Amino acid sequence: MRTARTCTADAGGRAPFSFTAAAAPLPAEVVAEAQRGLIDWGGSGRSVLDLPFGSEEYRALAADAEACLRRLLALPSEYHVLFLQGGAYTHFAAVPLNLLGAGTGADYVQTGLWSTRALAEASRYGAVRVAASAAASGFDRVPDARGWHLDPHASYCHITTNETAHGVQLRHLPETGAVPLVADVTSDFLTRPLDAGRLGLFYASAQKTAGTAGLTVVVVREDLLHHALPQTPAALNYTRHVRQGPVNTPPVYAVYVAGLTFAWLERQGGPAAMARANARKSALLYAVIDAEPLYRCRVRPPDRSVVSICFDFSQPALQRRFLEVARTRGLVGLEGHPTRGGIRVSLHNTAPLERVEALAQLMREFARRHPCRAPFS
Ligand SMILES: Cc1ncc(COP(=O)(O)O)c(C=O)c1O
Repeated sequence: MRTARTCTADAGGRAPFSFTAAAAPLPAEVVAEAQRGLIDWGGSGRSVLDLPFGSEEYRALAADAEACLRRLLALPSEYHVLFLQGGAYTHFAAVPLNLLGAGTGADYVQTGLWSTRALAEASRYGAVRVAASAAASGFDRVPDARGWHLDPHASYCHITTNETAHGVQLRHLPETGAVPLVADVTSDFLTRPLDAGRLGLFYASAQKTAGTAGLTVVVVREDLLHHALPQTPAALNYTRHVRQGPVNTPPVYAVYVAGLTFAWLERQGGPAAMARANARKSALLYAVIDAEPLYRCRVRPPDRSVVSICFDFSQPALQRRFLEVARTRGLVGLEGHPTRGGIRVSLHNTAPLERVEALAQLMREFARRHPCRAPFS
């Protein structure tokens, strides 16, 4: 039998903590409850894995998860919540397929890798315009909202609230007038309050902040239904999901884990409490980055992400050594996105403060031990 390749515990015997962006570690309470549910779901004596999605039990489980999410988002009643498969990347296609029937193409704001991928997918289905882009400056900022070229007849305007690969985050939702605002909120979903009522549609893969892989949460306002292009696959047709219930099998176990995660978030004080904690943790890291010439964050301070902290080494050869030392201290998953390189610290909601402090301490020590000979110009 093959065994999983695991990281060893740190010198203090603690399990390693992963700062990877791919999938945030779930809270221990959620993991424990999800483990129980595999064997004995809610004291029923059966495994949650066996629940047919058409059963009363699954309907109740999904309804509870949805109700909790609605409370966390203070979601107005005209919004529908869908628990779908596919990941956000699939919904890069599903969004235009569902919305392009309403107007003359769509506007996309290009702030990094994920919005670039979203607009590339959308352009297969209709006229997609780049309303604003920070590509020319290497995605070091959110383009100034005063320079966005928005089409008042567009079906929608798409933004990515947090660019996971580049570490850029929108502080505020932009004003788009009568054009519905659509957001990929995958990597900062529930990490801060979201003014949901200002969005026409938003979507998130669950594995970063809302549970485990396999689930995509799509929230769509009633008036944006019935605009799907004729070629929209049935399983991706939001209107059909809303009107008929699940068109195909929902990711039952992932919905269950998301429900547990939403309940955990609610017990912690919800997105507002998460935002305060994440701001404190990210400030610790940015303070070291800005104080030590060995490190540089390419993103302008006002647009720096609070949950995806990306930085580079002035002496790139030292990065590998840094990652090795971090690993011996139980700090793993720090490699930047393959398209960008550098270091990336994903805080999401579950990075413990003491692990972030340990990382900040390591960064300081490492910088002192390796005085910067070639600072960034
Ligand atoms: C902002 C953002 N959007 C979309 C995706 C794609 O998500 P998935 O791989 O679940 O389809 C990611 C993945 O990291 C992301 O960070």
